[in-house]
Amino acid sequence: MVASIAALGGLLFGYDTGVISGALLFIGKDFQLNAFLEGFIVSSLLLGAVVGAGISGALSDRLGRRTIILAAAAIFAIGAIGAGLAPNVEILIFFRFFLGLGVGSASALVPSYISESAPTDVRGSLSSLFQLAITLGILIAYLVNAAFASSGSWRWPLGLAFVPALILFIGMYFLPETPRWLVSKDRDEEARRVLSRTRSEAEVEDELQEIRRAEEEEGEQAGYRELLAPWVRPMLVVGIGLAVFQQFVGINTVIYYAPTIIKATGLANVATLLATVGIGVVNVLMTIVAILVIDRVGRKPLLLIGLAGMTVSLVILGAAFAFSGLSGIISWITLAGLMLYIASFAVSFGPILWVMLPEIFPLKARGTGTGVSALSNWGANFVVAQAFLPLIALIGESAVFWILAGICIVAALFIQFLVPETKGRSLEQIESDLRTRVGS
Ligand code: BGC
Repeated sequence: MVASIAALGGLLFGYDTGVISGALLFIGKDFQLNAFLEGFIVSSLLLGAVVGAGISGALSDRLGRRTIILAAAAIFAIGAIGAGLAPNVEILIFFRFFLGLGVGSASALVPSYISESAPTDVRGSLSSLFQLAITLGILIAYLVNAAFASSGSWRWPLGLAFVPALILFIGMYFLPETPRWLVSKDRDEEARRVLSRTRSEAEVEDELQEIRRAEEEEGEQAGYRELLAPWVRPMLVVGIGLAVFQQFVGINTVIYYAPTIIKATGLANVATLLATVGIGVVNVLMTIVAILVIDRVGRKPLLLIGLAGMTVSLVILGAAFAFSGLSGIISWITLAGLMLYIASFAVSFGPILWVMLPEIFPLKARGTGTGVSALSNWGANFVVAQAFLPLIALIGESAVFWILAGICIVAALFIQFLVPETKGRSLEQIESDLRTRVGS
């Protein structure tokens, strides 16, 4: 219940990023748009997310995870109404940026909130609910856009995000702070009360002692200072590396431009729309598969399997575009390549980034570390979104997809050699493994 309510932050993340491509078709009817303004309506949210992730993670180490998620929920609610009612394009762009602050904060905080609240043996599955909510948000956005397409309305699709934002706010209001953050502020009694809602008495005392011991070992340093301590620095590299690779493998070229790519293969409009919804559905279903296996298979093997699938599918996509003139069958091969690609991402990099970020940082730098990594994820997202269409114009689809395949291989090497496995270890054990590895 706790994880599901917090995961609504993911639903809004997915919805607000997914809704704009469809809405854009109709915004152009009401406002004078040019290519620059269109791009800016989309990317202002990404820039807001960079800022939101950067500020909120560090703030949460001081003020608490719950407090900042409540603030993000308020931003989502106000942003939805503001964007839905925007009288001109400048105000629309302002509110997209404002919504981005909420999206960035949610991405930095909801994973930490769930991870710090969850029992070790199901921590991966519960944290993956965040990504499941993201994929559901994207799918709902595709469907809402389709439903409002005949009326040509874009205000309703943007404004409707108010509803989940309100539910998130009310839900979070009744949820407790995480036991780990409470211990970091020496509020052990409250932490005990929170833990005892989901653990047996004996488990509560064990876990509390473990958290206390780790907290004391960390000493007084917190936030950026702790993050830059010699024993934490390697994890900063891992966090930023994972976050940037999750975008540089090209996921959002598919999520944001699926209709453009599919249409380029020569399918008709209706088929394109259906295929886009199909991508959304596969994204959700394969995330559920990840939830079922992540705590058994482990984070690293799943990441490597996913990257293998993505590499193969990108090579196929590149080849399909290279021979696109040949025959109708090529459209179907392209479609199959896209589906394999999205399935491979959804079972691996999609959920695992958000599961692992809070796991690899020690308690007092968790918010800050997750925030800095999430910020890099949004920055990389912005770069890919800006570069994709111009790059295609410059070197063609095939070369772009093959470059992405090469990036998948580099990502796999990075994971194999630098990323630790965190399955089945408590957050405190991961922290002590880290000290041992670095020898401090
Ligand atoms: C990524 C988003 C992406 C989504 C797709 C998330 O984990 O961070 O950039 O759009 O997955 O499902």
